Amino acid sequence: MLAVRVNEFGDPPVLTCEEVPEPVAGPGQTLIEVDSAGVNFGDILVRRGEYFGRTALPVIPGWEVVGKAATADPDGTFQAGDRVVALLDGEGYAQMVAAPTGDVVSVPDDVPDQIALAMVIQGATAWRLLEGMEPGDRILVSGAGSGVTHLMLQLARYRGAAESVVIASSEEKADQVLGLGADKVVRPDSDTPLPDQISACLDGWKVDLVIDMVGGETLQAMLRQLRPGGRAVIYGVAGGVPAKVNTGALLKNGLTVSGLWLGHPGTIALREVVAELFELNRAGHLDPTLGPVFPLDRASEAHQAVEQRTGVGKVTLRV
Ligand SMILES: NC(=O)c1ccc[n+]([C@@H]2O[C@H](COP(=O)([O-])OP(=O)(O)OC[C@H]3O[C@@H](n4cnc5c(N)ncnc54)[C@H](OP(=O)(O)O)[C@@H]3O)[C@@H](O)[C@H]2O)c1
Repeated sequence: MLAVRVNEFGDPPVLTCEEVPEPVAGPGQTLIEVDSAGVNFGDILVRRGEYFGRTALPVIPGWEVVGKAATADPDGTFQAGDRVVALLDGEGYAQMVAAPTGDVVSVPDDVPDQIALAMVIQGATAWRLLEGMEPGDRILVSGAGSGVTHLMLQLARYRGAAESVVIASSEEKADQVLGLGADKVVRPDSDTPLPDQISACLDGWKVDLVIDMVGGETLQAMLRQLRPGGRAVIYGVAGGVPAKVNTGALLKNGLTVSGLWLGHPGTIALREVVAELFELNRAGHLDPTLGPVFPLDRASEAHQAVEQRTGVGKVTLRV
């Protein structure tokens, strides 16, 4: 079969489309004939050799696919030939994958492939980031161009957030999130310290929940906007520099800072979360932003789109 492999870490051209042996399904796995694979920011880190613990070569990137199940689920949730999405432990940029059966989910007929893919990693992450949000909460979010952010804003509005404020790196991304459920946008400029800009945008209010995937000074500035007893959830370090957290301020203000990684089991099974996200999409409450689609052998262009922050939305490889 064809797959996109990284034989040496580096820039996008190291992604090479080549013949590799087909996977064999082990116990608890289902073979899927792949129609499309999602491209995620984490794939860029895998390609560069910077993803936690993923340093063995060669490696086939890719954590989510949509396609046809080769065999039925022993528990009966899907049949052979059904259209399914799956969260994988890697190797998704390929014509066939062996997926953990517990993370294979049937796709309703009226949900298109690219939307189905957007609900796996980006959708489930957005859903889990908001698990502790209460109706009436004010939230402060980084990453206006992020697919996770776009879904999270819509979910937050659906669940009754009082106000969502987003930090945006460009006017275009600011306009886009304002149309997706953000109430206000902070547009950082180099003349004013970021904490002052966020504070001015919040009109002196503090927030209940901070959600960050940039890290560094951005997260430090965001933490200063938490109300006493507020919470921060960190799910990425896209800026490349982790934040220094003032533990004295945490104890003085009773703040909670936690991390979220989709790979850890959540309170509700991924299968249930994704199925609920499909229903919210069908009911018109959740509309993922869809990015460009590339053929499998142009995976390097897909990575460039994500890396250059131009591929806003779910970037996809058509297999
Ligand atoms: N913990 C988990 O389980 C989990 C799950 C999914 C995603 N993530 C992480 O969450 C983040 C967003 O994922 P996504 O799927 O929404 O990705 P995406 O749609 O490709 O968006 C990438 C985001 O990262 C920001 N970004 C990229 N490079 C940056 C830099 N050098 N400095 C500051 N910001 C930078 C972009 O900023 P702009 O807004 O300016 O474009 C954009 O908001 C990624 O870091 C990803 O690894 C974590």
